Amino acid sequence: MSEQTSRAVRIHAHGGPEQLVVDTVSVGEPGPGQLRIRHHAIGLNFIDVYQRTGLYPNTMPLALGMEGAGVVEAVGEGVTHLKAGDRAAYAANPPGSYCDVRVMPAMNVCKLPDVIDFETGAAMMLKGLTAQYLLKRARPVEGLEAGDFVLFHAAAGGVGLIACQWAKALGLQLIGTAGSDEKCALALEHGASHAINYRTEDFAARVKDITNGQGVKVVYDSVGKDTFEKSLDCLRPFGLMASFGNASGPVAPFAPAVLAKGSLYVTRQTLFTHITSRERTQAMADDLFAVVEAGQVKIRIDQRFALTDVQAAHKSLEARATTGCTVLLP
Ligand SMILES: NC(=O)c1ccc[n+]([C@@H]2O[C@H](COP(=O)([O-])OP(=O)(O)OC[C@H]3O[C@@H](n4cnc5c(N)ncnc54)[C@H](OP(=O)(O)O)[C@@H]3O)[C@@H](O)[C@H]2O)c1
Repeated sequence: MSEQTSRAVRIHAHGGPEQLVVDTVSVGEPGPGQLRIRHHAIGLNFIDVYQRTGLYPNTMPLALGMEGAGVVEAVGEGVTHLKAGDRAAYAANPPGSYCDVRVMPAMNVCKLPDVIDFETGAAMMLKGLTAQYLLKRARPVEGLEAGDFVLFHAAAGGVGLIACQWAKALGLQLIGTAGSDEKCALALEHGASHAINYRTEDFAARVKDITNGQGVKVVYDSVGKDTFEKSLDCLRPFGLMASFGNASGPVAPFAPAVLAKGSLYVTRQTLFTHITSRERTQAMADDLFAVVEAGQVKIRIDQRFALTDVQAAHKSLEARATTGCTVLLP
């Protein structure tokens, strides 16, 4: 057994950013189906906040972080798609990427193309694979074609700016919402066809105006509590509410009868249902790598924090003070 240790950001109780502490943990050799990776950069995601607060409860102590990029140091039995020395990046369970080096399941770890740097790799996997499945796999029953309108909340965030660009590449008219005029401008710069400041404007009324009263085929809603109900009013008949997050708090229980206003569909999506096999993960990652390598989707990293400044990173994300992606540097 190797005698390695690593710094690992963990929580010992659910709570605020002050619960995030840097512990020293031992790191062994990878077992069957596992690998050991040394991180060069780590992605920050809103799910890390839910896990920290206990909205998504876990057993303690909990090592946080679900996204990272670095160099593979060793692989366990049965791992054939990567070898020691390979550059790699991932979005994966279990959490634990806020560290220097870790042993983890290899299934969701992908070889990083040479032209993609580690920071970009760490920033893009969880958010980019999410944009991929939202736009390409979570489809409304009537399909999604070039020219169609979709509504995307929090469009200037990490997932949001990737979705704006990818939607444009697909020919979709993405109406983005964001919490300030500056963020709206950023969404427009990244390909949104329209942007709505949902702190100052009635977004449902604006969506009706923009779509000539028709509504959109899909709403992608990661804001949750504050936007869910009104988002249903933005949908055209048979439209799809794709709920995929709770940045403002969880969606309140509702009666199915509210969907009768347009024979609407609701789904609650999570990336982790989409990446349950190595083949599916790689296919989705290849799709993401292709749009990034082609320059159709630029991964914008607007915040960088040292791993040891993780409390400040969480505070910024929760305070809606970030745009685009945020990385932690070990
Ligand atoms: N289900 C999945 O598969 C999946 C995967 C990845 C991400 N997600 C979800 O997608 C969302 C985006 O993730 P991300 O990591 O890229 O984060 P992010 O979008 O960079 O940050 C979250 C954004 O949500 C908006 N927001 C609205 N109300 C808020 C509130 N009360 N508190 C905090 N933020 C609020 C803010 O933008 P404005 O100021 O513009 O409102 C904030 O910047 C998150 O909700 C996340 O949980 C889900």
